[in-house]
Amino acid sequence: MRLRVRPPGRLDGALAVPGDKSISHRSMLLGALAAGRTEVTGYLEGEDCLATVAAVRALGVEVTRKGPGHYLVDGVGLDGLREPEDVVDCGNSGTLARLIVGLLAGQPFCTTLTGDASMRRRPMGRVADPLRQMGATVLGRGDGALLPLTVRGRRPLRAITHASPVASAQVKTAILLAGLWADGPVSVQEPAVSRDHTERMLGGFGARLDVADGPAGRTVTVQPGPTLRGQSLAVPGDISSAAFFLVAGAIVGGARVTVRSVGVNPTRTGILEALDAMGARIETRPAAGAAAEPVADLVVSGTALRGAELGGALIPRLIDEVPIVAVAAALAAGRTRIRDAKELRVKESDRIRAVATQLGRLGARVTEAPDGLTIEGGGRLTGAVVDSAGDHRMAMALVVAGLVAEGETVVEDTACIATSFPGFADAVNALAGAPCVEELP
Ligand code: S3P
Repeated sequence: MRLRVRPPGRLDGALAVPGDKSISHRSMLLGALAAGRTEVTGYLEGEDCLATVAAVRALGVEVTRKGPGHYLVDGVGLDGLREPEDVVDCGNSGTLARLIVGLLAGQPFCTTLTGDASMRRRPMGRVADPLRQMGATVLGRGDGALLPLTVRGRRPLRAITHASPVASAQVKTAILLAGLWADGPVSVQEPAVSRDHTERMLGGFGARLDVADGPAGRTVTVQPGPTLRGQSLAVPGDISSAAFFLVAGAIVGGARVTVRSVGVNPTRTGILEALDAMGARIETRPAAGAAAEPVADLVVSGTALRGAELGGALIPRLIDEVPIVAVAAALAAGRTRIRDAKELRVKESDRIRAVATQLGRLGARVTEAPDGLTIEGGGRLTGAVVDSAGDHRMAMALVVAGLVAEGETVVEDTACIATSFPGFADAVNALAGAPCVEELP
């Protein structure tokens, strides 16, 4: 699929973005492990999170779809999962692949996981290695570091303290989930704070958790075993999806956009701080939401942006938003430098390379560093043919760039947008009041 993008005459109005991807995955996995029913509303029905529904069903959990984004998960408890009859396909989802390996490490049976071509290139050793230390058997391609992987769990697992070299919520979550079946408390230390949805949600389901901040970073410890209890969960809008509209609203002249009911967990709001540092005008109006996660309406209006220095502990708090921040930076006055972001090289695509080459095709001056990007802003973007290479966030960032590029931009390989944001093009067109994003045959 290809999308043709033309600058809109205006960008004005309000929208709600789909449910948070990270929270949706966790609601399904924790619901599966709880005793009793979990009711989820606002579940993200993108391909990634639908793969998680299929995965828990394959493990013997009954999941009923009541309506759009509305699911009932009849949890089977910590002892109730059963061996899948076939290979479990994680599709494009790194979150599903990493989290479920942690859960499978504690199951007394064998599961084989695979994924799409992008997922089969992404590193799994970061979760497989500590889980082997805990006693699970994990075999796979690339010396056990690449999908397809086969996991034979063990019970109990050995309790460990894992010092993760990367600030990764996926690694943290995988090990904490395995800790539910360990023979003692399991701790994960992370060098900078990554998103903490797992900690909040595990606590809500009744797990015993302790979070301590120290000089070496944050340590999260989970105690094995207590029965998790089914919950009612309302998934807030995904700030990572809202980010495309925050930047579009900031760079399209005269725009005014309200994104309603967005999750504003402080471990995810790096995008608001980055855009603030760039001079964007974004108002945060607290809104009613689920108790465990703060929610707000975000109102953005178009304004002149300036370059900024972005790095350090901010990066894990906006890791998925770097492609769209780079679009804002290309339009800003002056230089933007993004550092400490080498994790971007192992996302759905190598996003450092992808941003540099694809924004470069639109005329942006972007140079790559091993761990980030330098963007000389202020230039004009010119429409061109660009390619997402199957990466949903690159595809959406390039569509937003097309809204401010002179002439026509064609974004190739856009079917991937459905992994996290079904209806994205329609949402842009609704704000534009005319079809500025159109599917090409
Ligand atoms: C996620 C964590 C992040 C993020 C991903 C979702 C999660 O990955 O990029 O889109 O839900 O835990 P890392 O934790 O590996 O950085």
